[in-house]
Amino acid sequence: MRIIPGVHHMFSAKSFVSVVTGLLLCLAVSTAWAEASGAPLKWWQKTTVYQIYPKSFADTFGNGIGDLRGITGNLDHIRDLSCGAIWLTPVYPSPMVDNGYDISDYKGIDPSYGNMEDFDTLIKEAGKRNIRIVMDLVFNHSSDQHSWFKESRKNRVNPKADWYIWRDAKPDGSAPTNWRSIFGGPAWTWCEERQQYYLHTFAPQQPDLNWENPEVRKALYDAARFWLDKGVGGFRIDAITYIKKPEFRDGAPDGEDGLSAIHTMTANTPGILGFLHEFKREVFAGRDIFTVGEANGVAPEDLPKWVGAQGVFDMVFEFSHVNLHLKNGEVWCRPTEWKLTELKSALTASQKMTAANGWCPVFFENHDQPRCVDHFFPKGADPKKAAKVMATVLLTLRGTPFIYEGQELGYTNVAWPSIDHYNDISSHGQHRTALEEGFSPEEALAFVHFFSRDNARTPMQWHTGLNAGFTTGKPWLPIHSNYLTVNALTEANDPDSVLSWYRRLGKFRRYHKELTAGTYEELLPEDEQIYAFSRTLGNRRLVTVANFSLRDAALPRNFADNMTRVLSSEPGGDDGSLRPLEARIYREKR
Ligand code: NOJ
Repeated sequence: MRIIPGVHHMFSAKSFVSVVTGLLLCLAVSTAWAEASGAPLKWWQKTTVYQIYPKSFADTFGNGIGDLRGITGNLDHIRDLSCGAIWLTPVYPSPMVDNGYDISDYKGIDPSYGNMEDFDTLIKEAGKRNIRIVMDLVFNHSSDQHSWFKESRKNRVNPKADWYIWRDAKPDGSAPTNWRSIFGGPAWTWCEERQQYYLHTFAPQQPDLNWENPEVRKALYDAARFWLDKGVGGFRIDAITYIKKPEFRDGAPDGEDGLSAIHTMTANTPGILGFLHEFKREVFAGRDIFTVGEANGVAPEDLPKWVGAQGVFDMVFEFSHVNLHLKNGEVWCRPTEWKLTELKSALTASQKMTAANGWCPVFFENHDQPRCVDHFFPKGADPKKAAKVMATVLLTLRGTPFIYEGQELGYTNVAWPSIDHYNDISSHGQHRTALEEGFSPEEALAFVHFFSRDNARTPMQWHTGLNAGFTTGKPWLPIHSNYLTVNALTEANDPDSVLSWYRRLGKFRRYHKELTAGTYEELLPEDEQIYAFSRTLGNRRLVTVANFSLRDAALPRNFADNMTRVLSSEPGGDDGSLRPLEARIYREKR
């Protein structure tokens, strides 16, 4: 300590205090981490990730489409949320049938987003703010416009003939199996040139790669290393549970079309972990990065094989808490009712499963999900209050929180008047399926209103000016009509806004190590209004209580007796009752 005043001319009094506080904090924190888990946490366990859908983030070219320079120009917005990483959904060259999840060159940048120099600048500028860029690897399938597929489809003997999944027709000329693709319609498409069918888990323009072929795996690993050499901070790995194909046999028909959902046949099939261990060994092992796999079909009880030291990724996205209305094998157009206790137990299950071994991402939104305000709260919920409740839960659970662009502003779903207004390829497939299943046009549109991925893809609202500051051109998707109040500038100037709440919580999380390193315990598990849980580190304990209902919610008698309220999303006294849609954080006095 004594040597510090000797160099204090280098610091202002304020920075001197913060340096000392920082040193003490570091000391306390590293001891605390060691205490909680036996090992210090990695950088990605201590930070929050911000997910960007580049097409909708910020346009600097005036063509109505977001671009890399738009991201670089808005990095401070992300820094101010205390985020240390950005997950970029695909920016590679793509015909954009599925907005970039159909890649035609794994080592390039799509011209609509800029060029490689723009990407390098983004990495550099983000680095200056302690933010790392995380790429999206789409390795289950490529675009049908990738040179690999163009070659593969020519005939059965070319050098890439076996790079995709090709099969002969059944004797009657029909597809090799009755599988339905995830976007609707058959999962096999006939290729005239080659006189065979090829498999596509998603759209026909997204043919599945053949992971059984070692040359394919080598080419994919090589692409991933290309981005590592550029200094990226990790990877989100798309649709990875579908890479191992099982025996090709028909499934039990589960719809009017006589087809069987491909997901039930091909997700997480035996043998997949062999591929993934090789992937880890060849590409990720020993690097200071993180990996998060999109793991549809991996149940919470499977998680130990997927994450942690013995697993294949650092984290996986597990979807039970966002798919509550699709339980019991129901298809999306027959959603089931769910209760708060089910949401809580889904969250608790993945918290518990990864507590002993591994780590989990915490998320309520992404580019495929409805906005959380419309997803998890009763009809009629005030969006601003609901957004704050969700933010509080998101930023106080154990794991790495993921904020999806717009979530920090309190975005809500859109409800456009006809299916023709929608861009999302899966919304069109689902709409068709709903009509085929006998739903009325109004019902089919209502499903689209709830499920469409376009809900999550409307452009960022930066201010109250032209096109909400997203573009000077015609935005590729309409700007949400609420932009005059829901936008970054207005909210930055309003201490009571959703954005200010996110910023505050972001800082709170940074300075309360209970929230990163502490253990999780669910409280009041039977309560249908309140989600309550504690985070404990050594003798420090924080408790989150969040009222998901539109009514006052009384805390049990004595619940908060030994606690001080430190943050509250609603004004008012602490009378043992939560206001409708109020979240609080308490500190236990010990
Ligand atoms: C999952 C991605 O999140 C989604 O947006 C995409 O359409 C499919 N995988 C296919 O790549």
